[in-house]
Amino acid sequence: MNQDSYTLAGSTVTIPALGVGTWAWGDRITWGMGGYDADLTRTSIEEAWGASIDAGVTLFDTAEVYGGGESERIVGAMLAGDPRRAAAAVVATKFMPYPWKLRVARALSKSLRESLDRLGLPAVDLYQIHGPVSLRSHAELAEALAAAHEAGLVKAVGVSNYSGPETRSMDSELRRRGMRLATNQIEFSLLRRSPETGGLLAVCKELGVVPIAYSPLGQGRLTGKYSVSAPPPKRRNFGRYPMAIVEDVVAELRRIGEKHGGRTPGQVALNWVISKGAVPIPGAKNRRQAEDNAGALGWSMDDEDLVRLDQAALPGVKRVAGRIWQHG
Ligand SMILES: NC(=O)c1ccc[n+]([C@@H]2O[C@H](COP(=O)([O-])OP(=O)(O)OC[C@H]3O[C@@H](n4cnc5c(N)ncnc54)[C@H](OP(=O)(O)O)[C@@H]3O)[C@@H](O)[C@H]2O)c1
Repeated sequence: MNQDSYTLAGSTVTIPALGVGTWAWGDRITWGMGGYDADLTRTSIEEAWGASIDAGVTLFDTAEVYGGGESERIVGAMLAGDPRRAAAAVVATKFMPYPWKLRVARALSKSLRESLDRLGLPAVDLYQIHGPVSLRSHAELAEALAAAHEAGLVKAVGVSNYSGPETRSMDSELRRRGMRLATNQIEFSLLRRSPETGGLLAVCKELGVVPIAYSPLGQGRLTGKYSVSAPPPKRRNFGRYPMAIVEDVVAELRRIGEKHGGRTPGQVALNWVISKGAVPIPGAKNRRQAEDNAGALGWSMDDEDLVRLDQAALPGVKRVAGRIWQHG
């Protein structure tokens, strides 16, 4: 049976086996709020928020860079406008350590205070380093996180897009300061299985770091609503396999979904991620998507289904100069 919650290392924060990604909330460029997606509105977001929490999906992931702070502002408005549900919500946000932020401790402290201000919170449940892009050492970043923890502004700390060796290094720098690395947020889905096959999930397990899986629906491609004849909007640039290849994966998801009483392809895709001990955080733009995604909880696949999905899964690609490259 799949695990239904995790306590984050070094804290008393508990997260469910499934969360919600809020990048689309307030974002114009990739997700089209206030642009091409007229159905993505403050009302549709409010409904996604309510339906998620009511279904036990209480983890919300945002970042200072999403919509230039707008995603955090919207999460803050949801928290302030709905105190009953807010009491159940667990909020994760991120610091982007751009290379030009050379005084990284000062930059992190400033970013964190601005994030808390937008969220309307005295402390954030999980604070993540958005990517391994800083020119500063892991020791300096760990020191900055430790100071934020010491000041009572963050309850647990994590990273994102870190490799196995980077995860180990940050974990050991935090342990040296009496802290623990709680999470590593990575792209992980049936369109990017390489974190499992390349050993990153095993490193996380060994260290007690919870892997949080972003783009777990392949940016909508694994829900079955996109195809060769109805491709996703161009700006979605993760997991860029041609839709003809993605359609084969979706066919397997449909087959397994039917076997389990009519589960949707997206629910099966999320359940596969959960079965690997990672916490998927699919984006949800409205109540229907939130309710559909929540249907990934409360059931498990048998070994035969999991083997078939492992075989159908793709390692992950990126496009360089118009050609597809595998990456591990
Ligand atoms: N740390 C990082 O570097 C990083 C990078 C990327 C994302 N993230 C995080 O991960 C979260 C999720 O990733 P993501 O948004 O890139 O991709 P995703 O979760 O794979 O896809 C989300 C999109 O799929 C569609 N969708 C969701 N549920 C659906 C359903 N039940 N039925 C049909 N369509 C559905 C929606 O878009 P449409 O309706 O428009 O198709 C939705 O915006 C983000 O919100 C963010 O919090 C982190």
